[in-house]
Order: sequence, then C-alpha cells, then structure tokens
Amino acid sequence: AVERTLVLVKPDGVARGLSGEVIRRIETKGYRVVALQLTTATPELLAQHYAEHEGKPFYQPLVDFMLSGPVVALVAEGERVIEGFRSLAGATDPTAAAPGTIRGDLGRDWGLAVQQNIVHGSDSAESAAREIGLWFPAS
Ligand code: CMP
Repeated sequence: AVERTLVLVKPDGVARGLSGEVIRRIETKGYRVVALQLTTATPELLAQHYAEHEGKPFYQPLVDFMLSGPVVALVAEGERVIEGFRSLAGATDPTAAAPGTIRGDLGRDWGLAVQQNIVHGSDSAESAAREIGLWFPAS
C-alpha cells in the first residue's frame, strides 16, 4: 500500500551538509517528498517524539543532541516507504550499517553518548502517523 513516513535529517546531517544527499537518495529510489521544512525541535516535541525511549541511558544525550541545531523534517510517500526508507537508512549503529546505506556510507561512530546517525525514519505505520502529526501539525 502507498504509505507516508516521517524522515528527519538530524542536526549532524544538516551541519555536515548532507540534507541534499538524503533527499536525493529518497527521490532516486522513487519516493516522493510531499512535505519538507527546516526547523529546530523543542523539548516538548522531542519528549513526544522519543516517548518510547524515556528512561533509557541515551535518552537525555539524544534529546540534547536533537536540540543542538536545526533538523530537516520531511514526509516521504510511496509503496512500502516506511520499510523502504529504513532500508535506505541502514542499521542504527553507523559502524555496523551496511555500505550502500545512508548511515553505512556517510555515518561513523564519534565515540559520543548518543549515536549521531544522520537520519531518523518512522518504524511502523502507527509511528509514522503519530510522528507526522507531531512535526507537521497542520497536515
Ligand atoms: P533513531 O532510531 O532515529 O531514534 C532513537 C535514537 O537514539 C537512535 O536513532 C540513535 O540516534 C539513538 N540511539 C539508539 N540506541 C542507542 C544506543 N544504544 N546508544 C546511543 N544512542 C542510541
């Protein structure tokens, strides 16, 4: 089925000038970008976005990292795009992520308290609906 997923180019990706490369990979794959904005997160937004990670050791470093600079938030649309973008992104750990993926090609472990892994993608239809509502409340 045609789906929509929320993609974030995280502060490390934006700071390194990789937003265009991420969008290029999404579009080259054949998905369509149907909403796009450069924005800076807020603690309130991140508390909702990362609610499932609250209490984990990397939670506060993750929130601090996500507040460290602007992010590019976008909605991508296409057949099975939720799974498809996660394939494009690769494994969470950029050292383990396969070459050919965004994280495998462009990311590495910086030895920090949180994985700075360039992108986020929704992990299920439920997450996608929730996250698109958070980042694009008018949609
Ligand atoms: P993402 O899957 O988009 O959302 C949760 C984020 O937390 C994840 O990307 C990483 O940036 C980070 N993360 C997940 N697991 C760990 C971990 N074990 N150590 C550090 N950071 C993590």
